[in-house]
Amino acid sequence: MPEDKGVGLSYEDRAALEVSLRPFVVSDLLAVLEIENVSFPSPWKPEYFLNEMNNPYARLVVAERAGQVIGYFCCWLVADEVHILDVAVHPDHRRCGIGRLLLQDILAEACQNGAYSASLEVRVSNQPAIALYQTLGFQRVAMRRRYYENGEDAFLMVRSLSDFASS
Ligand SMILES: CC(C)(COP(=O)(O)OP(=O)(O)OC[C@H]1O[C@@H](n2cnc3c(N)ncnc32)[C@H](O)[C@@H]1OP(=O)(O)O)[C@@H](O)C(=O)NCCC(=O)NCCS
Repeated sequence: MPEDKGVGLSYEDRAALEVSLRPFVVSDLLAVLEIENVSFPSPWKPEYFLNEMNNPYARLVVAERAGQVIGYFCCWLVADEVHILDVAVHPDHRRCGIGRLLLQDILAEACQNGAYSASLEVRVSNQPAIALYQTLGFQRVAMRRRYYENGEDAFLMVRSLSDFASS
């Protein structure tokens, strides 16, 4: 049995969250920016999201509940790796499994596309995100000094996907 890393949300669990995931469309931009701006000290600008829409290596996905966009992610699927660039959940909807659901979706799609590993950078001060990534099996493998605009360091976190397909 693979170790349970919290990636195995059942269909029942998903239904209980009453959340659906779908590709980002331009009309989602305002809702996504609202979440982005309250979630990050250096939020992405609108053009970043629009550029990623046209990037063939990028996946930009939103989570919707009752017709409202409550979260999203952006990742790049390049060769045999998925790199997570941006993930956020609206503050009113945090801590009920949406972040895990979004990450799980990234990892599942990456696996289907033949990826062997997932990686991301996270602020060393961002305990909620680090905790989320750890529950999903990511491990800290390196520190990137002064990675962010304000001089903060980042942890590089990675996860092999070899056990994900069977988990
Ligand atoms: C990080 C973030 C996406 C988590 O989203 P979320 O929907 O609240 O996370 P989930 O409810 O799926 O949490 C899953 C697990 O992660 C961990 N976790 C999430 N938030 C946590 C917190 N504030 N404190 C401690 N652990 C936390 C817990 O283990 C949690 O499981 P539990 O609730 O059963 O204990 C959200 O806090 C957010 O949008 N933060 C601002 C943007 C950001 O920092 N993005 C990451 C950039 S690298």
